[in-house]
Amino acid sequence: MNVLGIETSCDETAAAVVVDGTKMLSSIVSSQVEVHHPYGGVVPELASRKHIENIISVVDKALSTAGIDQKEIDAVAATQGPGLAGALLVGFSFAKAYAYALGVSFAGVNHLEGHVNSVFLESDPPPFPFVALLVSGGHTGLYYVKSHTEMTLLGQTRDDAAGEAFDKVAKMLDLGYPGGTVISNLSKKGDPGKINFPRPFLDKNGCDFSFSGLKTAVNRYIQEHSDKYKDEQNDIAAGFQEAVVDVLSIKLITTAKRQAADHVALVGGVAANERLRDRVKKEAAAQGLTLHIPSINLCGDNAAMIAAIGYHYLKEGRRSDMNSDVYSRVHI
Ligand code: KG4
Ligand code: ZN
Repeated sequence: MNVLGIETSCDETAAAVVVDGTKMLSSIVSSQVEVHHPYGGVVPELASRKHIENIISVVDKALSTAGIDQKEIDAVAATQGPGLAGALLVGFSFAKAYAYALGVSFAGVNHLEGHVNSVFLESDPPPFPFVALLVSGGHTGLYYVKSHTEMTLLGQTRDDAAGEAFDKVAKMLDLGYPGGTVISNLSKKGDPGKINFPRPFLDKNGCDFSFSGLKTAVNRYIQEHSDKYKDEQNDIAAGFQEAVVDVLSIKLITTAKRQAADHVALVGGVAANERLRDRVKKEAAAQGLTLHIPSINLCGDNAAMIAAIGYHYLKEGRRSDMNSDVYSRVHI
């Protein structure tokens, strides 16, 4: 089954064609970084307007790259939520109209389930059940994954998401938006042990996270060293990143052990972080766990993961009707 996936939950306009939830024929992502960069974060109305400008050409490119004609699309899947309502509405409404015009099935899908399913687009996907850590700009959560569409939330952040913390620290250092890649690049030139920032929640057995205290500690350090922090920004970035990486990697591994899972997955935009990928690889190997991390292009928001989860919704008979609406918040 050829599924056209459409994703517009935040600041990426994306479309992809995926066969049977696993074989990616195309994945086109049009980034809006340049639009939002001057504002230090995503401006919702600008994101919606840009999606409207981009959506048709992105979908056309997804089809031409896949080498297929509209008539060969068997179903359309689009992100229904969570995300920015105005941004979601563009992709979701477009997808409904597209499916209606082609006379094919339509599924509105959960973005977070999409991220978890990104590992099934890789060559050696995990068997069920497995434990997944989803780390993105809007969410940080640990899931016990029983099937493509059934996952139990074991714990999540009580305040900022990990990616949001990266973005906010980058803003404090005047490094612009998005912060994850900038912080990760600066960290390579810094000493992760020079400034010791707090590791929140490491001593507790729970699966919840909290990054606001760490963010405040970085802010306090910058205030207290206002005369010289610019010279130290590589060490600040490296020290902050190390604290986040410590918390995320230890929580993922201890949770997997507690759940007696043999396979673990790391997904979402922050899973593109090299230091985090390396650490989780080492810790998983040391504990005899098999780790699954999607390639970098499948970590951040993309429509291939939406097409993949859409295939499973439709296999379960979960078609959405033309009256369905988007939702901005949800937990799974
Ligand atoms: O999954 P995603 O593309 O969008 C959401 O669903 O939120 O994640 C975006 C987040 C941003 O906060 C961005 O700063 C972060 O992922 N990110 C990174 C890296 N690349 C992107 N964080 C740390 N290191 C990176 N290399
Ligand atoms: Zn996402």
